[in-house]
Amino acid sequence: MENTERKKKILSCVQASCTPTLGNYLGAFKNWKNMSEDYDCCYAVADLHAITVRQDPKQFKKQILEMYAILLSIGLDPEQSIVFIQSHVPQHSQLAWLLNCYTQFGEMSRMTQFKDKSKAHADNVNVGLFTYPVLMAADILLYQADFVPVGADQKQHLEIARDIASRFNGIYGNVFTLPEPFIGKEGARVMSLQEPTKKMSKSDPNVKGFISMLDKPETIMKKMRSAVTDSEACVRYADGKDGINNLMSIYSCCTGLSYEQIEKDFAGKGYGDFKTAVGEAVVEELRPVQEKFDEYMKDPKYLMECAQKGAEIARRISQRTLDKVMKKIGFIL
Ligand code: TYM
Repeated sequence: MENTERKKKILSCVQASCTPTLGNYLGAFKNWKNMSEDYDCCYAVADLHAITVRQDPKQFKKQILEMYAILLSIGLDPEQSIVFIQSHVPQHSQLAWLLNCYTQFGEMSRMTQFKDKSKAHADNVNVGLFTYPVLMAADILLYQADFVPVGADQKQHLEIARDIASRFNGIYGNVFTLPEPFIGKEGARVMSLQEPTKKMSKSDPNVKGFISMLDKPETIMKKMRSAVTDSEACVRYADGKDGINNLMSIYSCCTGLSYEQIEKDFAGKGYGDFKTAVGEAVVEELRPVQEKFDEYMKDPKYLMECAQKGAEIARRISQRTLDKVMKKIGFIL
């Protein structure tokens, strides 16, 4: 019998700012790759989001292309998934404007990321930073995504995207699919190696706090060895052992071992041995991605061709939603 059931749709994006970290990889990219087999997937480099903080034009251009190369290097197949660069699809900015008019000032003021980022960049609290979640809602709603695979830090933004969508649907009928976050059990919140109560972030001024996806093996081992732990010297998952919990979670994501198994394997061993094992597992996990990245970066023409093809399809899909939205509001098309 023919299978006429439609595949569920997935959309997710990563900001084009700096090289992504192990947090991006374990919290998001690994799931993106796994889901690409069973769902209709759209993945984008969110370059429009990245200009909410000032970017150096030359460096920015390089970052966008590198991020696109990373998406292919993690194993996304541009023939199977739609992999594109956000600014190549003007429908994102267009829908974002429309949705701005269906979003309340108070809602945006409550966003924790806005509060944090406006503290971190107090000299440039621009309106783009404030309406950032609306552009993100537009990214998602344009493709009628059912699921959005993200790390736990994006949950609040997903909730607001749903709120905006239901408000719009409430006024005009069923226009948008209500998206659900897909947050993996493991790796949803990879923490800083230096301050394990804070999320691992590519913008951390302390480079020892994060592992970049392109860090060399020796750098990874060095950063792992200097990871903050505790004085108990026992590898076990427990409240108050933030550093070890984080390393266990990273190790579990890279090896597939359960916490019980890890505790057994490292019973009676010190943190030095454990940190070496975690470092080695991360090196092995990232090695094939780094090798592919080096290959792709030798052929920027190929990368741009893939990005352009992806954008062409993305423009077609997103225009359908945009037309529907504009008609509903009453614009003349
Ligand atoms: P960004 O670029 O900060 O991160 C990309 C993805 O990586 C996840 N992530 C983490 N997961 C676990 N532990 C960490 N330490 C960690 N750090 C980052 C993020 O949760 C995210 O899934 N606003 C988004 C980009 C975006 C987007 C979208 C996402 C723009 N439009 C539409 C989904 C749908 C962001 O800044 O992610």
